[in-house]
Amino acid sequence: MTPPPGSLLAAENLRKAYGPTTALDGAEFSIHPGEMVAVMGPSGSGKSTLLHCLAGIVTPDSGSITYDGRELSAMNDAQRSALRRSEFGFVFQFGQLVPELTCVENVALPLRLNGTSRKEAERAALAWMERLEVDDLRGKRPGEVSGGQGQRVAVARALVTGPRVLFADEPTGALDSLNGERVMELLTEAARSAGAAVVLVTHEARVAAYSDREIVVRDGKSRDMERIV
Ligand SMILES: Nc1ncnc2c1ncn2[C@@H]1O[C@H](COP(=O)(O)OP(=O)(O)OP(=O)(O)O)[C@@H](O)[C@H]1O
Ligand SMILES: [Mg+2]
Repeated sequence: MTPPPGSLLAAENLRKAYGPTTALDGAEFSIHPGEMVAVMGPSGSGKSTLLHCLAGIVTPDSGSITYDGRELSAMNDAQRSALRRSEFGFVFQFGQLVPELTCVENVALPLRLNGTSRKEAERAALAWMERLEVDDLRGKRPGEVSGGQGQRVAVARALVTGPRVLFADEPTGALDSLNGERVMELLTEAARSAGAAVVLVTHEARVAAYSDREIVVRDGKSRDMERIV
């Protein structure tokens, strides 16, 4: 397959079944460097499955995914996990922070796993926490912070390694609208300043409005929505 010109991450004709359930049925996707694409659609339509395939977490039954000119299916597991660690960041709906670690230790964790010294990792972590306005929570554990604060910590952790793609699956799904908006504002700002592309799964139009472009998934098929401004 030839990915669309200039795309960083692209997928064509993805199929994935879980037993009798078809989760993806010929889905397509593409994103440019620094672009923010919202993936919308009803519950069970295949949004998370699409995101997991794009991120190399789930292997599709067929179809093609290219990242930066490389075909994901041609990589082995070790290469794919190295790609995830170095090029991708992840924010999920909830439950992603390690409860035993403080917030700054959580944000520093991806750098620590890459072999960065504790001092250097925590310095970088704090810089990101400042941008997400959660640096005052550095010594607290995830159980001691609010949902919105926790998601901002999670965004800082996802960006601390300087990923080229940030995957966010319903990052504000567990928040009230005010907190959700603050998280989205800061996520958008931070990702843009870092030059990261964002794949944002949401079923809320208000959240999708932060994106440059929308893709709608229905019954495992996706199509581009021209934004009507
Ligand atoms: N690990 C799995 N095992 C079995 N079935 C699965 C699995 N993951 C997803 N499915 C099924 O695949 C379909 C698509 O699921 P997916 O999680 O991608 O939907 P979604 O659009 O993210 O939904 P939601 O908005 O509720 O999160 C659903 O029918 C779901 O039940
Ligand atoms: Mg989902």
